[in-house]
Amino acid sequence: MSSIFVTGGAGYIGTHTCLELLQAGHKVFVYDNLSNSSRLGLERVERITNTSIEFIEGDVTDANALTRALQHSQCESVIHFAGLKAVGESVTNPLAYYHNNVVGTLTLLRAMLAVGLKKLVFSSSATVYGEPQLLPIDEAHPLSATNPYGRTKLVAEDMLRDHFRAYPDWNITILRYFNPVGAHESGLIGEDPKDTPNNLMPYIAQVAIGLRDRLNIWGNDYPTADGTGVRDYIHVVDLAIGHVKAIATPTPSQCIELNLGTGRGYSVLEVLRAFELASGKAIPHEFFPRRPGDVAACYASTKQAESILQWRAERNLEDMCVDHWRWQHLNPAGYGSNNDFASKHAT
Ligand code: NAD
Ligand code: WQD
Repeated sequence: MSSIFVTGGAGYIGTHTCLELLQAGHKVFVYDNLSNSSRLGLERVERITNTSIEFIEGDVTDANALTRALQHSQCESVIHFAGLKAVGESVTNPLAYYHNNVVGTLTLLRAMLAVGLKKLVFSSSATVYGEPQLLPIDEAHPLSATNPYGRTKLVAEDMLRDHFRAYPDWNITILRYFNPVGAHESGLIGEDPKDTPNNLMPYIAQVAIGLRDRLNIWGNDYPTADGTGVRDYIHVVDLAIGHVKAIATPTPSQCIELNLGTGRGYSVLEVLRAFELASGKAIPHEFFPRRPGDVAACYASTKQAESILQWRAERNLEDMCVDHWRWQHLNPAGYGSNNDFASKHAT
C-alpha cells in the first residue's frame, strides 16, 4: 500500500485507474485542470469505493503549483495521465499539444526532481509505432509518428529515456496503450467525450443511444478479412489494473516500455456487430473513403507486460461492449446527464 500522485486522474483512464488503486488499498491524490473532465467522475469513484480522494485543481505546466502539490501530497510515485489526446485537434492546434504533453511532462520531471520523487508511470500510446512494419507489434518495433499528437508522445518518451540515462536510479514505466474502450461494470464512470467522438466505440455508442444517425465507416478496402480497419481494443478496467501492477511491481531502477493491449485485433464490422448484440440496437452505418493517417491493422504483442507485470487483459470484446453500453444508456449525456442516476445507484 502506498500513496500515488495521479495527474489527469479525473479523465477517462484516470478515474478507472484511481478506482482500481483505491480498491487495491492505495491512497490516491489527483491533480487535474479539468480541461477535459469534471469532478463528478471522481465523486463517483469515491462513492463506489467508499473512500475519499484528495483533489487539487491545477495544471501540469504550472511548475510552482505542481511542485507544491507534489510536496504536500507526500506521495511515493506518480502516474502521469494529464495531456491532450485528439489527433485531429493536434493537427489544427499543435502548440497546445506540445505545451500540454511535452512541456507538461518536462515540468513534472523537474517537480519530481525538486521533491526527490523517482518512480513514474507514463501514459504513452501505440501511436508511437506509426505505420506497423510487422504484426503483432512488440516493444522493439521502430518508433515514428504520423501526426502532432503522436510526435508529442514520442518526444515525451525520448525525454524520459534521456532523463533516465542522466538519473539511473529512477524507475520509469512507459505504458503504450492500444485502443482503450468500455467502462466500469457499475455504469457509474466511463468515457465522456466533450465533442463529436473521434474514436470508434464512443461513436457507435452515441448512434445506439440515438444521439447520432449513423456510423461512418472509414474504408472497407483495407487488406483485412472484411476490408475494415483492425485494432486491438482493450477494456479500460484491464488497462487500469495494468497501472496498479506497474505501481506495485517491485522493480529495480529502470526505464522500460510495455504494451498494454489484448494481443487480438477486431475489425470495425466485428466491433459494430458485437455492440449491436450488447445493446440490442441496430447501428445504421455507411462506408466512406479511408480516414487519412489510418493504418489497416494494429495489434500488440503482450508478452513483455505479461512477464514483467504478471498481467494479462481478462475482458473480451463482449465485456467491452456490454460495459460501454451500460455506461452510455445510464448516462446518455455522460456526466452532464440530466437524471438522478447517481443518487439512485448510490451504495
Ligand atoms: P482524458 O482526456 O479523459 O483524461 C486526461 C485528463 O488530463 C483530463 O481529466 C484532463 O482534464 C487532464 N488534463 C489535460 N491537460 C492537463 C494539464 N495541462 N494539466 C492538468 N490536467 C490536464 O484522456 P484519457 O483517455 O483518460 O487519456 C489519458 C492519457 O492516456 C493521455 O495522456 C492520453 O494521451 C493517453 N492515451 C489515451 C488513449 C485513449 O484512446 N483514450 C490511448 C493512448 C494513450
Ligand atoms: C478505430 C478504427 C477507424 C471512427 C486513435 C488514435 C490513437 C489512440 C487511440 C491516443 C479505425 C475506424 C473510427 C469512426 C470508423 N489515442 N473508425 N469510424 O485510429 O486506432 O487510434 O485512438 O493515443 O493515437 O489515433 O482508433 O477508435 O479512432 O479507430 O470507421 O467514426 O475505427 O478508421 O479503423 P485509432 P479509432
